[in-house]
Amino acid sequence: MKALCWHGKNDVRIDTVPDPIIQDPDDVILKVTSTAICGSDLHLLGGLVPTMQEGDILGHEFMGEVVDLGKNVTKFKKGDRVVVPFTISCGHCSYCESEEYSLCDNSNPEPELGQKNMGHAIAGIFGYSHMTGGYSGGQAEYVRVPYSSVGPVKVPDELGDEKVLFLSDIFPTGYMAAVNADIKKGDVVAVWGCGPVGQFTIKSAWMLGASRVIAIDSVPERLKLAETFGKAETISTTNSQEVYSLLMDMTGGKGPDCCIDAVGAEAHGTGKMEIIKDEVKDIVKLDSDHPYALEQIIKCCKKGGNVSVPGVYVDTVEIPFGAAMNKSLTFRMGQTHVQAYLEPLLNKIKNEEIDPSSIITHRLKLEDAPNAYETFRDKKDGCIKVVMTP
Ligand SMILES: NC(=O)c1ccc[n+]([C@@H]2O[C@H](COP(=O)([O-])OP(=O)(O)OC[C@H]3O[C@@H](n4cnc5c(N)ncnc54)[C@H](O)[C@@H]3O)[C@@H](O)[C@H]2O)c1
Ligand SMILES: [Zn+2]
Ligand SMILES: [Zn+2]
Repeated sequence: MKALCWHGKNDVRIDTVPDPIIQDPDDVILKVTSTAICGSDLHLLGGLVPTMQEGDILGHEFMGEVVDLGKNVTKFKKGDRVVVPFTISCGHCSYCESEEYSLCDNSNPEPELGQKNMGHAIAGIFGYSHMTGGYSGGQAEYVRVPYSSVGPVKVPDELGDEKVLFLSDIFPTGYMAAVNADIKKGDVVAVWGCGPVGQFTIKSAWMLGASRVIAIDSVPERLKLAETFGKAETISTTNSQEVYSLLMDMTGGKGPDCCIDAVGAEAHGTGKMEIIKDEVKDIVKLDSDHPYALEQIIKCCKKGGNVSVPGVYVDTVEIPFGAAMNKSLTFRMGQTHVQAYLEPLLNKIKNEEIDPSSIITHRLKLEDAPNAYETFRDKKDGCIKVVMTP
């Protein structure tokens, strides 16, 4: 089959690789019908994530049709259309039992790599390095889905792929980001980053009772979408001092109650010094995480406020922790526990409370994936979200 494979920093290619086969009795094989590129894939493209190996198949946002089943699978039959959480979870360890699926103790077959890098391994993730299990991803014609009884759901025929595909990651991720911000009715919520995750975070903040949602980015079409799809007020980042001043003006000097970092490790510095610092760090290969959004959040968040971090960080991050401590900020973060949110969010789509397909700007073939990665990374041609079909 054809699949998008990682060959090193800024080098992804369509290769011909062996078709996946059933390995465990709870596996299903899907013929992929739609797959998307995520901001998290850009961290792989940029070479930020350790333990990638040449030839790894990428992709953790996908759905497809069941074409083969392990002997224990009763939940699905051949021909079912299934959307798959990007986190792979066993369903019965203590973490899965408390619905913290991305922390599953059993689904990562290479836990020693996670232990070495982070102290403990997290769950397996499709197409996301050997630290998260080395599972082949779904930017491919076919994919093996292990632990198929935990999480993947059958979708009704009347909902097309584009409406449900983002249940695999970014809709639950935006929703969990809002849940983690512990939004109380009437809270002012500020969201840094108006990429796909930011867009769903904004929508979810309203669902959880925000009275105002303020979205921050520098890309005009993403800010525009935050206004039209998200009904948010927006701030275009020019420099960090200006973002602080504007947010204080908008909140009577108090700062937002809840601040959400939907940017992650590859935040753009906005001041001249920050840009120079980034260039130096890149040259000498110092810690690669650039926490500019997080830095601003700590400064802008109200005293005693909540900070939620769906944005992915990989390495050591230099942040003003003293300010966070003294301001009594509460932090919550993590890879999304997709399985916990998939069914309730599917119901919101069925009830037409949200149409996730509104954020798609590029529809391409899988063989265009190497160019699509570049277009998405460089935000060329108004690109906000790419969906590919094999
Ligand atoms: N926690 C999870 O499980 C999970 C799941 C999916 C994605 N993510 C992460 O969420 C983040 C966002 O994903 P995405 O797909 O929306 O990516 P994206 O790269 O398309 O979007 C990031 C946005 O942040 C903006 N940005 C950059 N620097 C900024 C700054 N200093 N201030 C404000 N905005 C800034 C960019 O212009 C861009 O629009 C990524 O780090 C991704 O890895 C996490
Ligand atoms: Zn993702
Ligand atoms: Zn588990």
